[in-house]
This record gives sequence, structure tokens and C-alpha cells, in this order.
Amino acid sequence: MAESMKGLHRSHRCTEVSSGNIGEQVTVMGWVQKRRNLGSLIFIDLRDRSGLLQIVFDEPKVGSEGFAKAGTLRSEFVVAVTGTVEKRTAAVNENLKTGDIEVIASDIRILSESETPPFPIEENSQTKEDIRLRYRCLDLRRPDIQRNLMMKSKVSMLLRSFMEQEGFLEIETPILTKSTPEGARDYLVPSRVHPGSFYALPQSPQLFKQLLMCSGYDRYFQIARCFRDEDLRADRQPEFTQADMELSFVNVDDVIELNERLLQYVFKEAIGLDISLPIPRMTWQEAMDRYGSDKPDTRFGMELVDVSEVVAGCGFGVFTGALEQGGSVRGINAKGQGAMPRKKIDKLVEFAKGYGAKGLAYLAVNEDGTYKSSFAKFMEEDTLKALVEKMEGQPGDLLLFAADKNTVVWDVLGALRLELGRELGMMDKNAYNFLWVTEFPLLEWSEEENRFMAKHHPFTMPMEEDWDKIDSDPGAVRAEAYDIVLNGTELGGGSVRIHQDDVQEKMLEVLGFTKERAYEQFGFLLNAFKYGVPPHAGLAYGLDRIVMLMMQCDSIRDVIAFPKVKDASCLLTDAPGLVDEKQLEELALSVTAKEGSQE
Ligand code: AMO
Ligand code: AMP
Repeated sequence: MAESMKGLHRSHRCTEVSSGNIGEQVTVMGWVQKRRNLGSLIFIDLRDRSGLLQIVFDEPKVGSEGFAKAGTLRSEFVVAVTGTVEKRTAAVNENLKTGDIEVIASDIRILSESETPPFPIEENSQTKEDIRLRYRCLDLRRPDIQRNLMMKSKVSMLLRSFMEQEGFLEIETPILTKSTPEGARDYLVPSRVHPGSFYALPQSPQLFKQLLMCSGYDRYFQIARCFRDEDLRADRQPEFTQADMELSFVNVDDVIELNERLLQYVFKEAIGLDISLPIPRMTWQEAMDRYGSDKPDTRFGMELVDVSEVVAGCGFGVFTGALEQGGSVRGINAKGQGAMPRKKIDKLVEFAKGYGAKGLAYLAVNEDGTYKSSFAKFMEEDTLKALVEKMEGQPGDLLLFAADKNTVVWDVLGALRLELGRELGMMDKNAYNFLWVTEFPLLEWSEEENRFMAKHHPFTMPMEEDWDKIDSDPGAVRAEAYDIVLNGTELGGGSVRIHQDDVQEKMLEVLGFTKERAYEQFGFLLNAFKYGVPPHAGLAYGLDRIVMLMMQCDSIRDVIAFPKVKDASCLLTDAPGLVDEKQLEELALSVTAKEGSQE
């Protein structure tokens, strides 16, 4: 039977009790982690979000009723215990914050009983994730998840306090808004009052924060929930949180300088990490050329090498064919992997094909200087030698080559490099390699849409030096855009925005917007721009990702209290769900999908 806590006040959280309290009376409340009966004594480990505290029930001290009650305790019962703090007489537990003390109970109340939980509440649970997510309320009791969420709270506080000191205002922007062109699909919300019309949930506060700059707020900040209907991955959720900012009268260097101090402050206060400034910068072009990625993991080498010049005119059609089509041939050197069995190499070839490669050419340098290779027979001895030299190949090395369009070659070798890096344990788990990637291309060709799309968004400023190429060679125009990358994950990104009418108009034209459609979609911003726009720039971090990397989690789900799974459903609430006819009628909607069917 559940008892009331009337008249009781919790004096401490479990691990707030320490040897400094020896001899004092305390009242603690929490969940029973486990109970042990040891003859005339009963021990429990009491758990709350701070940790564990050992409670001892000794019949003469707690009374026969209390002792009997203690004997009924099971895991996850919620209890209140009053008792005296004493130094542990035996079995001091070094691993426990409260390992040198215990509370000798004088009173116990059972505030709530518990059924046997479907899995034990313990650190590093081996329980399958779908079960944990179905019983998320219990899963959230686990110390590792609690630490993650406490860290997230702390990081939010640190961000707020830093921003406040820097003169930022925290301003909310709407959740029910209009579809904005940011790349991903929108989540739509039907309007009852305007049948057939839809709100969109924001993919980011982008346009509103720019409006706030037009309104003179100067420095805006928000911890903002964002929604994107896109394929989920380990570091992506359909709803996630941005730490979002926008600043007026600044350039790229101003934004970077402020954010370096922000990162330094937050990482130091949160996890004691010293980030030395300035954080290295690399242009997008260099990142692609060296790492095959716009978010390079710089914790290890194995950089891409362009061997196009060496193999030009060689006898291997795969290479020369790619070059003739305007592509390139590049390679990576998996040092010391020359003895890799054929089967394993075949697996790498399959892996590469998964990233769009037509194949993967390899050359192992044998210890005696001869080669084992899929293409050596097509190539003259001199060219082979020059190729190995260019790759800095030593006996025992495995050289892997991709030949294709640049974008494919980068993708394939970039992914392969990471795969091998992981497999060979080349990434230092304790290293935090920050990197700014700058000068992104302004536009990106979309095969699907057969037109240029904004790489970041349509309001990003082109670099002045490249402006004359906007008509002749749009793909070569670089943007005043930057990403901050940590260990190969994009933590955040932003740009300087266009604040000139004519530049914005041109940009929209290149993106294929007619004036009418542009006004239809974001006329509210274009109109605001008619009345005095300050030059402005901003950036947004993925807050979930920051915490995920700080806590070295493999999945973003471990830092979100109630996350969604791969198909964007919530196993806890079973969202999304069907709604009843009446609700649909009110919204003037009819559903054509069959019950429970997916697209
Ligand atoms: P961007 O689209 O790069 O920029 O997003 C900023 C940061 O948000 C995080 N992020 C995500 N995190 C989890 N799940 C997702 N689905 C997800 N999508 C993005 C990433 C990313 O770096 N308005 C611009 C910012 C600006 O220009 O100021 C924007 O949204 O960490
Ligand atoms: P093939 O002539 O197609 O049998 O290919 C000979 C070798 O070249 C095999 O090892 C293929 O995996 C490899 N290969 C084929 N296409 C490519 C490509 N686009 N880039 C790199 N290697 C390739």
C-alpha cells in the first residue's frame, strides 16, 4: 500500500549525503535499486538522479514494523527513509560517491510499489533499444541516460549565459509557420479555420531571425525546436534542437571569432575540455580534395591523393575513361594493409559500390617490392612506379583507387577512408578535433530537379570575388558560408546573408524562382528587405549533436528524452496515429491511405 509523505521533507538527494553529515539525521527519497538480506540486517541501495546511497535496516533501530516493511522492498519501489548517517564499518565501496557512508534507517515509508520492470535499471544496458524506447520512462532512469540529459540541460544553460553576456536577446519564433525552402521536406499541419491550407513546422527559425535583424534586435539567440521530414540516421532526428543565433553588422570572421569563444567556454565548463584557439579553418575545396568530405574527421590521416596526372594516358581504360569524361582518379593509402585477404578487399569494393562507385581498383605493394593488383597488368612499369610513388606507397601498403566524376570519387573515397579508419582503430576516442569548413559552393546541381539549388539556403551571400561567375559558371560561385565540424560530425553551420535587393533577386532567378513564386513563398522577407536591412549573418548548432559528442554517444537518441526511431515513429506513444473521422471532417481532410499502410 502506498503511503503518503505527509510531514516528511527530503533533506538531501542521495549523493548529497556525505561523510560531512556523519551523526546527522537525514531524510532521503528515491527508488530501490536492490535489496540484500544479511541475517539480522537488510541493506538497500537507494537511487535518485544523483546516484546511489546505502541504507541499512536494523530491527532495533527501525522497529519491527519498519523492519518488516523493509523486507518487502523490491526493485523500483519508491521509498522515503529517515535515518542517521554513519561511517561504513565494512566494505567501503570506492566506486560509489557515497561509498564510505551509510544511513541507518529509523523510519521508512513505501510511497509507491512497482511491478517487476521489463529490464533492469542499470548503466550500459544490454536491453534491445526498441524495448527500452517502448518503456522509455524506465529507460530514462538509467544513470547513463540521466547523465546525458543533465549534460544537455547544463549545455543549454551555459549557452544562454554566454549569449547573455555577449548581448544576445532570446526571442521565440513561431512553430506554426509557413513552408520555407531549406532543403528537407516539411511537416505540415492542417488548418481548421482555413480548410485546405497548411502550416508548416519550422525546419529552422532562419527567416524569422533575419526579420528580427531587419527589426533592429541586433543579436538574437534561441534554443529552438526544428522539424525536418528526412531520412533518419544515427545523428538525425525528425525533431531536434538548434542553438540558433543571428547578428547584425558582422562578417564571417566576427561570427567565427564569437563562436570560437562560445565553444571554448561551453566545452570547458561542460566537460573540462581545453580548446585552443583559433580553431583551424579549411576551405570546402581543400576538405573535399584531402578528405573527400565537407565534414572531415581530422583525427587521422589517410588523405586522398589526386593521381589523375600520373595515370593520364596509361593503358587502364577505367582510369583514362574517367579522365576523358572530365572526372578524376584519386586514391588512398591504407598503410600496412597490403596483406589484406582478397575476400576482405572484395568487401571494400562492395562498400565502395554502395557509395556509387563502379568499382575500386587496388594495388598492394608486396614486401619484395612486387605488386598484387587488379589493374597492374594494364599499366606500364614506369607508370605503376610513378603511381606508387605519388601515393607514398611502401612495401606492405594497400593502395585503393576510384575513377569517376569528382563528386563520386570524393564520396566513395571519403566513406572508405572513414570505414577503414574505424576498422583499423585510427581515431583517437579522446581527441576533439574541431575544424571550420569555409567557402562552400553557393549552389549545387540537382539531378532530380534538373536545376541549381542553394547548397545552404537561398539567402546565403555569394563571395564578392565570384559574383561575376553567377551567370557564366554558377557552380563555381563560392558562398560566405561556414560549418563547424567536430571529429567528422557537422556540429553547426551558418552564413552571411544577402542584404541587397539586386543580389537576392539574382539569386532567386538562378534558383529558378519566378518573381511571383518568390513573393508567394517568402514575400514577407523580401518585403521587409525594402525598408532598411542591416548586413547580417548567423549560425545554428545542433544542440543534440553537441551533447552526443560531448558524452561520446553513438546515437542522437541517447541525448533526447523521447526520441523517434528510424521510421520516424515514437515507440512510447505510437505516434503518428490515426485520428477519428470527426477530426478529419473539421479539417476538411480525407485520407486515402489504407489503415496502417506505409507509402
Ligand atoms: P543547418 O541546416 O546546417 O542550418 O542546421 C544547423 C545544425 O542543426 C543540426 N541538424 C540536425 N540535428 C539533428 N537532426 C537533424 N535532422 C538535423 N538537421 C540539422 C546540425 C546542423 O549543423 N538556418 C540554418 C543555420 C544558419 O544559417 O544560421 C540551418 O538550419 O548540427
Ligand atoms: P574491370 O575492367 O571492370 O574488370 O575492372 C578492373 C578493376 O578496376 C577492378 O578491380 C574494378 O573493381 C576496378 N574498377 C572498375 N571501375 C572502377 C572505377 N570507376 N574506379 C576504380 N576502379 C574501378
